[in-house]
Amino acid sequence: MVLKTMDNEVLRTIRARRSTRKFTDEQISPEQLDALLESAIWAPSGSNNQSWLFTAIQNKNILEKLNSIVREGFARYIPDDDYPGKLAVSEHAKRDDYNFYYHAPTLIIASNKPGYENAMADCALALENIFIAAQSLGLGSCYINQLHWLRDDSSVREYLFKLGIPREHTICSSAAIGFIETKSSVPPRKDGTIKLVR
Ligand SMILES: Cc1cc2nc3c(=O)[nH]c(=O)nc-3n(C[C@H](O)[C@H](O)[C@H](O)COP(=O)(O)O)c2cc1C
Repeated sequence: MVLKTMDNEVLRTIRARRSTRKFTDEQISPEQLDALLESAIWAPSGSNNQSWLFTAIQNKNILEKLNSIVREGFARYIPDDDYPGKLAVSEHAKRDDYNFYYHAPTLIIASNKPGYENAMADCALALENIFIAAQSLGLGSCYINQLHWLRDDSSVREYLFKLGIPREHTICSSAAIGFIETKSSVPPRKDGTIKLVR
């Protein structure tokens, strides 16, 4: 199994991808951004809906403004379940150095039409395409959940609306993208997560 993975470029790329949380300041090229967005829109979608929208933000001032609005949002955020990240985020967001997208130079926000039951699934598949494409282009990437948690926060939504994301869209997820400054360690795979029935 390992030998086959190493013999195949796509499998090798899937295996090598890690979530990056320390990026350089250098912006990715327009061609790289195009390739990532193109990869996203070629993902499968339920009934071929393609009802997603990918909004790429590459303006540092806009990203920093969004970060400050997100920090304010987390000051009034009430977690709706006991997911550890949600429970801790309000405390983390109080820190002066809190930055929800890890200062990545590019943030791609995936939103989708409301009330569509495959909204999250479609966007997650598209994001994985982005992550694998980023890895193959020598870029780092990270799934960023915070805008999904704050998808109903009025200030966050107002600012995202100004950036062109329709008010009625649900915010599914986002991807931080850039060049890797520090490589992440490789989390070992848990045992017992594969079962074969033959
Ligand atoms: C649904 C989902 C939400 C995630 N949200 C975040 C996040 O908000 N911030 C973050 O740093 N990583 C986030 N991650 C990345 C995971 O922490 C990461 O995939 C996991 O630790 C395994 O590491 P790897 O991606 O390097 O294999 C998320 C991943 C998924 C699939």
